[in-house]
Amino acid sequence: MDLNIPRAFEEARPGAHELYREHVGPMWAKMLRTIGFDRQWVRGKGPYLWDEDGVRYLDFMSGWGVFNFGRAHPAISRALTEVLAADLPNWAAFDTPPLAALLAEELTRGLPGLDRVYFCNSGTEATEAAIKFARVATGKHGMVYLNRAFHGLTTGALAVNGDAAFREGFEPSLPTGVEVDVNDYAGLERAFAAGDIALFIFEPIQGKGVYIPEDDFLRKAEELCRRHGALLVCDEVQTGLGRTGKPFAFEWVEGLQPDIVLISKALSGGYVPVGAMVTRADVHEAMYTSMDQGVRHACTFGMGDLAMAAGLASLRVLDEEDLAGNATRIGGMIREGLEAMMPRFEFMSAVRQRGLMIGIEFGEPRALGLRGAWSTTHRISPDLFAQAIVIPLFDDHRILTQVAGHHMDVVKLLPPLNITEADAEWFLEGFEKTMEALHRFPGPVWELVKRLGKHAVAARI
Ligand SMILES: Cc1ncc(COP(=O)(O)O)c(C=O)c1O
Repeated sequence: MDLNIPRAFEEARPGAHELYREHVGPMWAKMLRTIGFDRQWVRGKGPYLWDEDGVRYLDFMSGWGVFNFGRAHPAISRALTEVLAADLPNWAAFDTPPLAALLAEELTRGLPGLDRVYFCNSGTEATEAAIKFARVATGKHGMVYLNRAFHGLTTGALAVNGDAAFREGFEPSLPTGVEVDVNDYAGLERAFAAGDIALFIFEPIQGKGVYIPEDDFLRKAEELCRRHGALLVCDEVQTGLGRTGKPFAFEWVEGLQPDIVLISKALSGGYVPVGAMVTRADVHEAMYTSMDQGVRHACTFGMGDLAMAAGLASLRVLDEEDLAGNATRIGGMIREGLEAMMPRFEFMSAVRQRGLMIGIEFGEPRALGLRGAWSTTHRISPDLFAQAIVIPLFDDHRILTQVAGHHMDVVKLLPPLNITEADAEWFLEGFEKTMEALHRFPGPVWELVKRLGKHAVAARI
């Protein structure tokens, strides 16, 4: 075979944007070009990406939270190479794969009270599994979820998505869910009182906006689940594996005991898609009640040797390199740096941080000129302001960050957990300069906002 993948990558690169636009996603390609994010990445290593001109970028987005261990971690990469070299049987299908058994043992060891794992290939599949297992285990159907929640985009997961923008256009056919505002204790009681609730699903820190529910609110949800015979489903797809400074973010809430924990993203090691739903034996057994029910819930690609090896190597790296500890240390340093800037920069209104999951919220300033700029920006589009920070961070300081969700003035930081103090300083310096420019009105950042605004009106980005 004359297919040489690195050569194919190189040869396709110059025309890749057009080819992608033609055959994969014209709107996505257009959006990237509009905001100037249409770089051609040629290499990734640790927390860095390199573009075609050899310029190094600091990746504080980690592919939506996949790269807890950075790109191309040598230990994870070696584990995968070993699997390929070993000609393991992989997907024999009528088998009990050893690597899956090992990974399940490791995952359950880290989650006392839970003893079974259902493996799949993505976060949304883990959510789908939770919905089905919870329904069959409780004999109930209703689902309680939180405003701004994100658990994936397949139809079951969409039914517990707390952002109308994602649900719009698909609604009448979705399973029914009841939405509750974060920390609305009375709303939570009402949702359960309606009856027939199979589960309450939550992110211990919400990916959209980096909002952290109160500990007592989650304890209340647990208590209501117990009282009404529902299951507490904790979505750790983004927050798991050290991201928040603990192996799992729900551990910040003392005594909280989920019935189901969902894991994906970082478990892939940044290489092989994987998802896992971890639960109690009795919940699991409600699904598989007899031998002819063995594939009542199943998927072809679950438990692949490469995915399982990536998971095993990832857990080992997390532990051996004390990445949760590093997340606490460097995350604390970034938070302190940001908070020290707040008195100088009126647009900054809050910093929410646990480990290396950080949200920077912006709000209306006091100074008259800046206030005018704020309200004009929001009149044009409620999504525009945060872009005015993410774009200069990228263009001028080579730092990749993201807007934390629809219609919010929040920028999210999700760097790899093994970043150094020097990386944190790179970010803090870039952010400070971006803030200085933003607080100069009129100025170049506001020219950018005006330009983007025109596109927003024309293309509704
Ligand atoms: C908390 C959470 N749950 C579920 C998902 C869905 O994961 P996937 O994109 O792998 O389907 C995501 C994805 O961003 C997520 O952040």
